[in-house]
Amino acid sequence: MPKSARSLISIDDLSVQEANDILGKAAILRDNDKTWTTYVRFYDVKPVVASCFFEPSTRTRLSFEMVCSRLGLPHIDLGEPTKSSVAKGETLADTFLNVSAMNPDLIIVRYKFDDRLDEVIKKSNIPVISAGQGINSHPTQALLDAFTIQEKFSTFKDIKVVYCGDVAHSRVAASGQTLLRKLGAKVAFCAPEGFVGERDSDIEHFSSLQAAAEWADVVIGLRVQKERHSEDGLSKHKSFEPFRLDKQSLKNLSDNAIIMHPGPFEPMVDLHPELLEDPRCRIHRQVTNGVYVRAALLTTMLDLWRRDL
Ligand code: CP
Repeated sequence: MPKSARSLISIDDLSVQEANDILGKAAILRDNDKTWTTYVRFYDVKPVVASCFFEPSTRTRLSFEMVCSRLGLPHIDLGEPTKSSVAKGETLADTFLNVSAMNPDLIIVRYKFDDRLDEVIKKSNIPVISAGQGINSHPTQALLDAFTIQEKFSTFKDIKVVYCGDVAHSRVAASGQTLLRKLGAKVAFCAPEGFVGERDSDIEHFSSLQAAAEWADVVIGLRVQKERHSEDGLSKHKSFEPFRLDKQSLKNLSDNAIIMHPGPFEPMVDLHPELLEDPRCRIHRQVTNGVYVRAALLTTMLDLWRRDL
């Protein structure tokens, strides 16, 4: 029976020490281009990375591709699922098992919650990185958001972070709050009634964005995730208007604070594009940092964790 590989499926799969090691390695990669080559020179045979994105993605998908290109790692990608044998009725779990059967060294996967695929991933003897799973988990986003906060404040201790918008359907908030609280930050949610979610009832909740902005060092906007709403939820969309990030709603935010959003944002729904010009905005910086953090994670998993198998 093959042993299950060391994977990153949930942010809870990482200890605080391991998360800090990845953030530290990402900073080294950011600060010195030459270090990129040092992380690949030990491979006799280059590891092959495979990816299966069963949900749409721009940032996560391309940042992993960018990492593979920069590290010189071969990368195979399932591509658009409707152009694969998923279109012929093959299940996502069977698709994953067939990609695994080709023996890549690591598989990156994004998917809606799917019981059987979830089971298959948990038993995989090839390391897996979750690139986002349903409303539950987006561990690499949590790491890159933590890195972006650390880049500004140099510490997490007592840094006040508020997630604003559709918290209930956000895997970004789910994984992010878990990691940030473990690292020492204080986390709050700011969402319309019915969109806070039942998870993490111990987290402070603001019902006014103005009050949240006054409290926060970091404001993280969230997209209204209509594709995950029930009919009932869709009828409540108007309730998001007071939670849209813009100059007016953030007028109480300190000059030393930062504004983040995992992307994609829907202009004028969850965020006014005027904020992209705000000196406190880190939205494109998050994307840049996603490359450093995913490079740090990928090289750690391919190198160190592989030796544990
Ligand atoms: N933040 C994020 O996961 O973006 P994508 O859906 O474009 O990958």
